[in-house]
Amino acid sequence: MTKKLRLVVMASGRGSNFSAIADAIREGALDAEIAALVCDRPKAPVIDKAMACGNMDIAVLTRKGFASRADYDMALADLVFGYDPDVIALAGFMRVLGPEFVGRFPGRIINIHPALLPSFPGLDAQRQALEYGVKVTGCTVHFVDEGTDTGPIILQEAVPVLDEDDEESLSARILEKEHKLYVKALRLISEGKVRMEGRRTLTEDKGL
Ligand code: GRF
Repeated sequence: MTKKLRLVVMASGRGSNFSAIADAIREGALDAEIAALVCDRPKAPVIDKAMACGNMDIAVLTRKGFASRADYDMALADLVFGYDPDVIALAGFMRVLGPEFVGRFPGRIINIHPALLPSFPGLDAQRQALEYGVKVTGCTVHFVDEGTDTGPIILQEAVPVLDEDDEESLSARILEKEHKLYVKALRLISEGKVRMEGRRTLTEDKGL
């Protein structure tokens, strides 16, 4: 059964994954609405992209002025909770969210990571893959738990590492796949086709 997903997208930077999600909704490829973009950086380019969409709230909450990370996470959780989202999609949100945030939305936060987890979690995943010398890397959409990129995996897509790759070329090829994979994961969730069995996520996956 399809359910129109009510999303909050959280992002800190460029916003290409945000745009991929917004475009898919506009084109009718994803039955969802973005209730709000929540951003932690007032000058992030993603804010202009959300403004251009024109049909969602844009909320900026910076860490400044909060005594502790826990206080900030609590304020962030209150803000997001107010939008009553079915799913919170992290799209380049450059902070690790603590238990004060994650605990408020069990099973409802997802993230995209530019590597095949559990390899290369954290920052600069594409550079980590190049430096390690793997021949295949890729991207992962996963549920968010309290660790760094450790939650149950929903979908993964492989990308070959070419001899001539540098960080930029590899990141660009991964990013192309990210955009499709994130939309596909959200579509599967909206269609009720993602279920959890312990750490495993089982999906009825019928191709992109
Ligand atoms: C992407 O590579 C995503 O996998 C990672 O942060 C980057 C965000 O890019 N979590 P963008 O802001 O969506 O263009």
